[in-house]
Amino acid sequence: MTEPGIRLPEAPASAVPAEDNVTSGPGRAGDEAAAGSGMPTAERLAQPPPAHASPRVWRGVIAEYAGRLPVGDTTPVITLREGGTPLLPAPVLSARTGCDVYLKVEGANPTGSFKDRGMTVAISAAAGRGARAVICASTGNTSASAAAYAARAGMTCAVLVPRGKIAIGKLAQALVHGARLLQVTGSFDDCLEVARKLSAEHPVALVNSVNPDRIQGQKTAAFEIVDALGDAPDVHCLPVGNAGNITAYWMGYQEYARDGLATHAPRMFGFQASGAAPIVTGEPVLQPQTIATAIRIGNPASWRLAEAARDESGGLIHAVTDREILAAYRVLAREEAVFGELASSASVAGLLRSHASGLIPPGSRVVCTITGNGLKDPDWALSGAPSPATISADSGAAAAALGLA
Ligand code: F0G
Repeated sequence: MTEPGIRLPEAPASAVPAEDNVTSGPGRAGDEAAAGSGMPTAERLAQPPPAHASPRVWRGVIAEYAGRLPVGDTTPVITLREGGTPLLPAPVLSARTGCDVYLKVEGANPTGSFKDRGMTVAISAAAGRGARAVICASTGNTSASAAAYAARAGMTCAVLVPRGKIAIGKLAQALVHGARLLQVTGSFDDCLEVARKLSAEHPVALVNSVNPDRIQGQKTAAFEIVDALGDAPDVHCLPVGNAGNITAYWMGYQEYARDGLATHAPRMFGFQASGAAPIVTGEPVLQPQTIATAIRIGNPASWRLAEAARDESGGLIHAVTDREILAAYRVLAREEAVFGELASSASVAGLLRSHASGLIPPGSRVVCTITGNGLKDPDWALSGAPSPATISADSGAAAAALGLA
């Protein structure tokens, strides 16, 4: 299996549109007038919805779960209305496993990954403390999210990524939101070490998941699942990279169970890529390798907390091969119609492997988190597909090419 080449294209000067053309684009000039209220947008959004509109407008995780998050009345809320993502029944995976399987589609978040849940809390808390600049290390999604929320907060954002090992869409997101991007000749683990040092020695807030505000925000995904199902699932499957997310879900499930909002907490099933599986082997991996670049991590920051989630929940952390990840990615896209990232597919690869090994009792209610949107990394979608035929604009030619004629 070869990795598709990723290069960062230079925008040719001639491709940059003149300002005049941009401002006359769709949905810009006249937006306020079209809304007909004469009120500034932010003020209009703060109004109660009109009677004919849905009374239930999702307000973002801080407003929805304020009492359960470390934000005070004076904390500025920096939100893109993240969360409230679909919990989608998965009929094909359910039939295959004999379980009742759901997908928590986190690619539906504003920047296309679950990171937004933690980032709204981390950036809001940082803004409340007067921070002007934030920094993170990332395999791509954290940098995209940090860049967007920092832009919203009017803060400077710096990101450190392993050179050549992040998906092109994620790179584009960090750049378009104005982050200062440094490509490091090293792994994610090296990037995190540098980011930690910088934040210790300079006035920049670290917004990686070692920041407890991130974990607090991410736990809201567990709340949403219980709120939707009426109780916790029996098993929760998710990919494990730096191990912040499994830690956050476990915290959320435990909190709801403790407060009587769920009768139990699920068994946590975490999955690492086999070439980057330090928690499975018990030792750091110096040169992690996997096609799932988002989880290409050899020394997870939340290693011990992930082990605690596994052990306290009666769960497991196993490895899945790149081949299994790719197969799950295709099942998800073609049969469940969910375009997740390769790393996200590790949860489904893990579900299928665990089912085949008899580790999940039939009839179990299972949730798999699809952590990020497949559009971030189109190379893998294209590499497995046949190249499309080119035809003239003619129905006969189209019919012939489609085998209809
Ligand atoms: N799935 C995706 C799509 C991710 O981007 C990540 C982590 C994970 C799963 C694993 O989550 O680290 O909490 O165990 N991405 C981080 C990043 C490392 O920098 O974007 P985790």
